[in-house]
Amino acid sequence: MKIYQVKDYKEMSRKAANIISAQIIIKPNCVLGLATGSTPIGVYQQLVEWYQKGDLDFAEVKTINLDEYKGVAPDNKQSYHYFMNKNLFEKVNINPININIPNGLEEDSSVECARYNKIINNLGGIDMQLLGLGHNGHIGFNEPEGVFEIGTHCVALTQSTIEANSRLFEKDEIIPNYAYTMGIKSILQAKKILLLVSGEDKAEILMESLNGPVTPSVPASILQLHNDLTIVADEAALSVIKLRKPASIVMELEESC
Ligand code: GLP
Repeated sequence: MKIYQVKDYKEMSRKAANIISAQIIIKPNCVLGLATGSTPIGVYQQLVEWYQKGDLDFAEVKTINLDEYKGVAPDNKQSYHYFMNKNLFEKVNINPININIPNGLEEDSSVECARYNKIINNLGGIDMQLLGLGHNGHIGFNEPEGVFEIGTHCVALTQSTIEANSRLFEKDEIIPNYAYTMGIKSILQAKKILLLVSGEDKAEILMESLNGPVTPSVPASILQLHNDLTIVADEAALSVIKLRKPASIVMELEESC
């Protein structure tokens, strides 16, 4: 595990964009596992900026997204399809056939999960998986449960996730209760994992994820077992870790800008 400590959201975004750019430059046809939420927006902005300057080329890059709301159409503003199109895909030269996101409109969960698992397998492995962190420790939409779900599955979102994500919906819009998400095994099979965390509201769960027991009740805790995990977190997100100073984690902290 390597933790880059950065000042704020802006620095986190720049550092993460640097790491992703290096991956694309080293392997132009790499498979990137992508995430949504507020956390990666700044990273995507930075990648777009570097693309526009001519420093990055997405022509051969393949992407696979973590999750999508069930029952939400790709052109719906709340869908993760729409989010990805607006924040990244429409702004770079990625080939649409290389973009993969769960199909929220497939009503039959077993059909969609099997389709998505097949895509993940056919891609031959994810080179770098980008992750955000939910307030309850969820990654993708792998919510706290009794067991780690291995493959793509349909998940009933917890009340706290529904509430956290409700800020992105208009007042009269129905917030979906279900989502399709890549499973824990697929995430862990990524060659590299890049976890981004920003803000004081994530400080406690970040500490628990990195220093607590590995348990499905804190899904992100499983990341402790990955052998190439990089975390980019800002000072606010690291505040609890820095206060309690667990020996195993403090050793991994690196100042960065
Ligand atoms: C959603 C997404 C996750 C994301 C999480 C955190 O639930 N499914 O992939 O990591 O939100 O979101 P935010 O970055 O907005 O805090």
